[in-house]
Amino acid sequence: MTDSTESTFVVWFTGISGAGKSTIARIVEERLRQKGLPVHNLDGDDIRHGLNRDLGFSDADRAENIRRVGELARLFNYAGMIVLVAAISPFRVGRDDARALVEPGRFVEVHVDTPIEIAEQRDVKGLYQKARSGQLLNFTGIDSPYESPVHPEIRIDSSFVTAEDAADEVLRVLEAMGLV
Ligand code: ADX
Repeated sequence: MTDSTESTFVVWFTGISGAGKSTIARIVEERLRQKGLPVHNLDGDDIRHGLNRDLGFSDADRAENIRRVGELARLFNYAGMIVLVAAISPFRVGRDDARALVEPGRFVEVHVDTPIEIAEQRDVKGLYQKARSGQLLNFTGIDSPYESPVHPEIRIDSSFVTAEDAADEVLRVLEAMGLV
């Protein structure tokens, strides 16, 4: 099959809710666009409002959510776009399956690794409070698991670095990998 994947890749941001995945991804998106590169951002929250609105937060539904996002990333790569994904993607196997859909060396896993205490303190969307009070079930890190990546290409502790610095680090690694 002829495709345009020679210059495309996937940057996959994983981490618990409130870690800062989407914020960092948006800055990376902007930086890549400034370089004149075609880039598309797939954000878990957005996709769950559209394509995946039939899915909830059971383990099975999260697995299906991530399977579809991985397939979307692959399709956008085929269409010539660099893809950024920001999704909790709590299960190792789901992230590994997404990785297997793209060429070796073209999947960059970024663990936005923030202690849950910090994410909970920030509680930007008020969801941790709802989860603690039992109004929201199966919340990642509280009553639903998060499996940390073992060997991510990049690990960022967003409780120590700003989103701007985190984006710089992602760009630096993309350059070192010869992707940009
Ligand atoms: S994933 O686990 O299937 O990868 P995804 O990234 O798409 O999750 O969606 C997570 C977003 O959904 C969170 O940022 C949060 O806004 C919202 N959300 C609603 N309910 C939950 C829940 N039970 N656990 C985690 N996130 C939830």
